[in-house]
Amino acid sequence: MNVKQSKTAERNNTDGCYDVERVREDFPVLGQTVHGKPLVYLDNAATAQKPRAVIRRVAEYYETENSNIHRGVHWLSETATRAYEGTRTAVRKFLNAAEEREIVFVRGTTEAINLVARCYGGARLQAGDEVVISAMEHHSNIVPWQLICQEKGAVLRVIPVDDHGDIVMDAYHRLLGPRTRMVALPHVSNALGTVNPIKQMIDDAHRAGVPVLVDGAQGVPHARVDVRALDCDFYAFSSHKLYGPTGVGVLYGKAALLEEMPPYQGGGDMILSVSFEETEYNVLPYKFEAGTPNIAGVIGLGAAVEYVTALGIDAVASHEDRVVAYAVERLARVPGVRLVGTPGRRASLVSFVLGDVHAHDIGTILDQEGIAVRTGHHCAMPVMERFGVPATVRASFACYNTEAEVDVLADGLETAWRLFSGV
Ligand code: ALA
Repeated sequence: MNVKQSKTAERNNTDGCYDVERVREDFPVLGQTVHGKPLVYLDNAATAQKPRAVIRRVAEYYETENSNIHRGVHWLSETATRAYEGTRTAVRKFLNAAEEREIVFVRGTTEAINLVARCYGGARLQAGDEVVISAMEHHSNIVPWQLICQEKGAVLRVIPVDDHGDIVMDAYHRLLGPRTRMVALPHVSNALGTVNPIKQMIDDAHRAGVPVLVDGAQGVPHARVDVRALDCDFYAFSSHKLYGPTGVGVLYGKAALLEEMPPYQGGGDMILSVSFEETEYNVLPYKFEAGTPNIAGVIGLGAAVEYVTALGIDAVASHEDRVVAYAVERLARVPGVRLVGTPGRRASLVSFVLGDVHAHDIGTILDQEGIAVRTGHHCAMPVMERFGVPATVRASFACYNTEAEVDVLADGLETAWRLFSGV
């Protein structure tokens, strides 16, 4: 931890308490007004805001270290390489992975899942094989599997979700059959907030001899993730939802699986030697990092991981649990609100409709109050179909949100309800 971050830790954890007002001071964007009202940013599942430590680290890289990595013998290149690889070590520790070579930098969760579908699925799947996903997937954990299944003649099987938004576990167990070659599941649903019993589901798949990919885009920012304790085979997440820059993500994969997979893309840095006859690929993780990567983004992710570590991911998770529990209780008192998804375990977000008012209209009214929420299908159209709604309003929370902001949201919704219902 550097000096700046240890100060952050001190400020935020005085007396072991989580001081959300001090946390808010770390995020310059939160000090703004929007349409004359204080910004209430509740669209964190789409992307989280960035603390000063991340913004400054990216600027510092461009101001003093900008250079390509793994290529130069000069000071700048070596400095940039050290910083880039430093993030790999930080992420390894953050996820409790065994080795740095199991941490692959990609553009985001979407690319990580595409990589596994193409390289693992592409090499393993045969006609009639099955890939199991759930009815609560983000499109990123549907379409890559659809593409590879179509190419290989394999079949996509979907675990149903009950009326609360929980996985139907019996159905899952029935779907794990002799042709199942892969299970791919979200840790936390981006559209419902459901926290899946991911450890149990991984164990169930392993008993059937099936590897598991976890889409952790909404998991990593809100819960401690220990890939060795989970024993997942692949885990994917995005930097920008963890307070880091956009355009960077992580694929964790067990070394033995990554070793046997062919490269995803060809180009510089992923090779040891090239001739027109033959190419020898680089060792892990570089085999999967073709071309000049998002160096600044990766270094910024390192700063984000340090920032969250200094706050304490468990402290962040407890804080968010309090805010989201309050949101569930407070929104239930707003006339016209109906929650979409009432799962047994929820993290970080609430999805809801307001009477039959279109979600976009609600979003527009809330925006006038300075409140940013996401409205629409949240890149999870099958979830909307399952719950019989065209769209929902989604309020999603992060380390800096407060119960007072939930009250502002509830007041905004009451205004919207009065306007549309004529009451
Ligand atoms: N996947 C992001 C969301 O849920 C963009 O909003």
